[in-house]
Amino acid sequence: MKKRIAALVLAAAMVFSLAACGGKSESTAASSSSSAGVSGEFTGTANGMGEVTVTVTLTDGVITDCVVEGPDETEGIGSVVVANAPEEVVSANKGSIDVVSGATITSNAVNEALAAALTAAGLDAADFVGNASEETAEDTTVEADIVVVGAGGAGMTAAISAAKEGKSVVIVESQSMVGGNSVRATGGLNATHTPAQDENEFNEAAGVEKTLATAAESYADDETITALAATVAEQWAEYQANPVGYFDSVELMELDTMIGGKGVNNPELVEVLCSNSADAIEWLASIGIDMPSVSSFGGASVKRIHRPLNDEGKVVSVGSYMIPLLEKNCEEAGVEILFNTTANEILTDDNGAAVGVVATGKSGETVTVNAKAVVLATGGFGANLEKVVEYKPDLAGFMTTNAAGAQGQGIDMAVAIGAGTVDMDQIQIHPTVEANTAALITEGLRGDGAILVNAEGNRFTDEVGTRDVVSAAEIAQTGSYSWLIIDQAMVDASSVIQGYIKNGYTVTGETYEALAEAMGVDATAFAATMEKWNACVEAGKDEEFGRTSFANPLNTAPYYAIKVTAGVHHTMGGLTINANTEVLAEDGSVIPGLYAAGEVTGGVHGANRLGGNAVADFTVFGRIAGQQASAYVG
Ligand code: FUM
Repeated sequence: MKKRIAALVLAAAMVFSLAACGGKSESTAASSSSSAGVSGEFTGTANGMGEVTVTVTLTDGVITDCVVEGPDETEGIGSVVVANAPEEVVSANKGSIDVVSGATITSNAVNEALAAALTAAGLDAADFVGNASEETAEDTTVEADIVVVGAGGAGMTAAISAAKEGKSVVIVESQSMVGGNSVRATGGLNATHTPAQDENEFNEAAGVEKTLATAAESYADDETITALAATVAEQWAEYQANPVGYFDSVELMELDTMIGGKGVNNPELVEVLCSNSADAIEWLASIGIDMPSVSSFGGASVKRIHRPLNDEGKVVSVGSYMIPLLEKNCEEAGVEILFNTTANEILTDDNGAAVGVVATGKSGETVTVNAKAVVLATGGFGANLEKVVEYKPDLAGFMTTNAAGAQGQGIDMAVAIGAGTVDMDQIQIHPTVEANTAALITEGLRGDGAILVNAEGNRFTDEVGTRDVVSAAEIAQTGSYSWLIIDQAMVDASSVIQGYIKNGYTVTGETYEALAEAMGVDATAFAATMEKWNACVEAGKDEEFGRTSFANPLNTAPYYAIKVTAGVHHTMGGLTINANTEVLAEDGSVIPGLYAAGEVTGGVHGANRLGGNAVADFTVFGRIAGQQASAYVG
């Protein structure tokens, strides 16, 4: 990723070389030591996710050109900082950019490299304070058919859908970039009964049968689950008599989602999610977003998570892939996005209908968006650890995988005009969060064959169980952490894992014993665990923990381990909505003109969300919100 802002003025003076503070340059420069006299091109480097290089052109002490390169920064997160930095630096003659929350590693690297470049010029970045405008920004009023609050997956999907219905759409986004939590989604999108699933081998029976047994043993009193299980049992029997294609069904996805959510979910919303999931895949493909790879994920009876692949056929992170493409579709559809604009109030008319929002812009100015309908897509409150602890005191001290914008502001705004909420104390922890950085290590690794071992070098759970179960098992281990084990064959198939290695999350060893030493666990116990696991894979049976999804044995050296622990990941509770994504008041009546989609809503996931159901949620319900809001606007 490379971005250049062209210099307006070029000057030449005497030529000299400098190399300081990691900066290196061949340059022209004026003889004066004050910034006023310095001209030339100067380069500095620093480490972000990979190497970040900043080259500034100084013209008589003024930054007239800036090139930032950071090919390894995370697509859709750090890459946006790299793309935006030159304009920020050149337009205001600044020696540092504003640190973007959610992209602090890249922001800091750009600032370090910029400072090194200026040091190389014999200057001090601190002296480049920027040409802050004396004027305060003026209050503005914008008119649109529909205002969407939040430019994450749900918001952009709703906006694209509404724009395709011919509506004018404005998105207000509190951050300086699109993506919210969605850009961090690594796994994929759960969808049932899709053409991509049919490319799999025939199903192993174990997953479906285990789910039917769970329904019978643990949910015999739950009418919804029992009815779904009866339907699935019939479908499964029919399929076994005539096994054509891959076995999955809307009802099986509903059953998995309801069991995953411990029966707390709103079945009507679950039905909407599952019955529209295959169509979501098709719609995404129609706007250039493809998910051809299908794999196992926690709590799914069959392979159902759909994932994107890069040109080399390697699995890539779903959020980093989807979000830039959704943004491109927004641009093409004429959706206007107001960045650094934080909505804090929903406007209502005399009938209580939502008719716009009031927001605060970057310089403190008031931005009013008058609209005929409002779609809330602000995400959950997983980054607001105070609020998390208020609803679930047990989570005090936990890290979070969430983007900074996930503060729950959309919920507060809607509640202020009478909206009801549901399941607010249902907060998910994810068991594989990198222990030092809180980076999410995708469940996809376990789905693709990784295992978890504890500090003693032993497995302790079915790694592809639901997140609540795996997290609880991990917390019960020595030190409340575990090691996620992968091998070179898995690394070769996944650019996501290659990114983890590049980011320094892994320890490695050529043999099981060497890896054990790097992890600091007992080598004999660990090697025995690995041999036993590989035998389970060969046999397709895990007597000890009942895992039913297997990939390849972990026997291709070298081996890798990532130290992981549990962290706050998803807030299942939120605004009460109906199947049309209309927000409901506390008494169950519809608040006219107010729609919501994605993690700001509650009810879809119950007590525990399945991996892959968040991307399905934001796509399915984002589309419905855009369509329903458009129909309401007329
Ligand atoms: O582990 C993961 O990749 C997370 C996926 C999800 O939360 O849906």
